[in-house]
Amino acid sequence: MNSFFYYNPTKLVFGKDSLDEVKDLIDNKHKKVLLHYGGGSIKKSGLYDKVTGILKGKELEIVELPGVESNPKLSLVKKGIEICRENEITFILAVGGGSVIDSAKTIAAGVLYDGDIWDCFTGKGSFNEALPVGVVLTIPASGSEMSSSAVVTNEDGKFKMSIEHDCLRPEFAILNPEITLTLPNKQTFAGIIDMISHVLERYFTQTIDVDLTDKLCEATLKTIMNNAYKLKEDPMDYDARAEIMLSGTIAHNGILGLGRQEDWGTHRIGHELTALYGTTHGVTLAIIFPAWMKYVYKENISRFVQFAENVFGVLKAGKNSEQVALEGIKEFENFIRDMNMPTSLPEYKLPTDDFELIAQKCTKGSYVGRFKKLYKKDVINILKLAK
Ligand code: NZQ
Ligand code: ZN
Repeated sequence: MNSFFYYNPTKLVFGKDSLDEVKDLIDNKHKKVLLHYGGGSIKKSGLYDKVTGILKGKELEIVELPGVESNPKLSLVKKGIEICRENEITFILAVGGGSVIDSAKTIAAGVLYDGDIWDCFTGKGSFNEALPVGVVLTIPASGSEMSSSAVVTNEDGKFKMSIEHDCLRPEFAILNPEITLTLPNKQTFAGIIDMISHVLERYFTQTIDVDLTDKLCEATLKTIMNNAYKLKEDPMDYDARAEIMLSGTIAHNGILGLGRQEDWGTHRIGHELTALYGTTHGVTLAIIFPAWMKYVYKENISRFVQFAENVFGVLKAGKNSEQVALEGIKEFENFIRDMNMPTSLPEYKLPTDDFELIAQKCTKGSYVGRFKKLYKKDVINILKLAK
């Protein structure tokens, strides 16, 4: 196990009545709050009225910034920074999913950053402070409600990039599984693939002697998959929604990666697909993860054997290690298909002639991933396996 430093101050409030806690969680020193949200879903569900009611009850002045699109855009972030500065806003409440939260986090860092916040995405600049952000989560997927990162798309050049700092971890996150009952199936299952991917990016490691986090990863994966099947049967199953919602947070709050080297190659390739084609984040991972697995499993077959046995219950008897490893990958692909998600580019009608460009943008003359370092040619080979 590697040495590590872990810090996570996010207060989690979970359950049916958790929204009421917002009134106590926002410190009384704040007088004005930026209420940040996406399209129509929170108005349709009635959540908007409940949240604004609570904020007004606290006599907070509300400045609204709606309109966050999936895969949040830099232009709206810049508008948010201006609004916060002009109105001397000291607190941001994000009501939505990963896109709203990431937009809020970037605004929070941008308000206090003297310069163009995009420079911090490209490595030209750095930041170490941000306004406090609170979250009312509406879709379990990104894990952004307790994570230290934010992912934003710069429309000018189609770059989807991330920033990371502990100061981006939200001050609190409200998780009420009831709020997720209104999710369309496609969003539910794209979110499920995303949270599974967050576990896998950590599970597939070359670090040895990481038994505890291995077991935590395996338990999280099995919990997500079991409850995903329950939601396929009955999307209104509150208990399954609750398991999925908690799993999404656990998958990406950093605990599962403690003491081990993480990979993240699949996410990097996926981000380029989103940047080019606007593809939903979870869909890109459904397509790329199986291809990545087929390309890298020989780098550490025993880890893939462990995945097959402990997550899918693949039996070893009469098979060699390679057969067991490949059976595990097949089982994972079957799960993705069971969730009505694609496992190849053509299945989702995505082009297959931009591989050079995707690989170039993704590796930037270097490499991505750590389980196996992926250089440009490797990324192209993975994309070919997803054809
Ligand atoms: O905009 P509205 O109308 O609210 O609709 C949203 C949106 O269309 C809808 N939705 C959300 N909650 C709903 C609902 N519809 C009905 N009922 C509800 N309760 O769902 C759609 C998707 O929302 P979005 O926020 O885009 O989804 P998600 O949470 O999957 O976030 C995706 C973004 O998170 C980033 C991704 O790259 C992507 O940009 N990620 C952020 C991470 C982080 N900061 O740690 C890590 C992840 O790997 C990921 O990269
Ligand atoms: Zn993700």
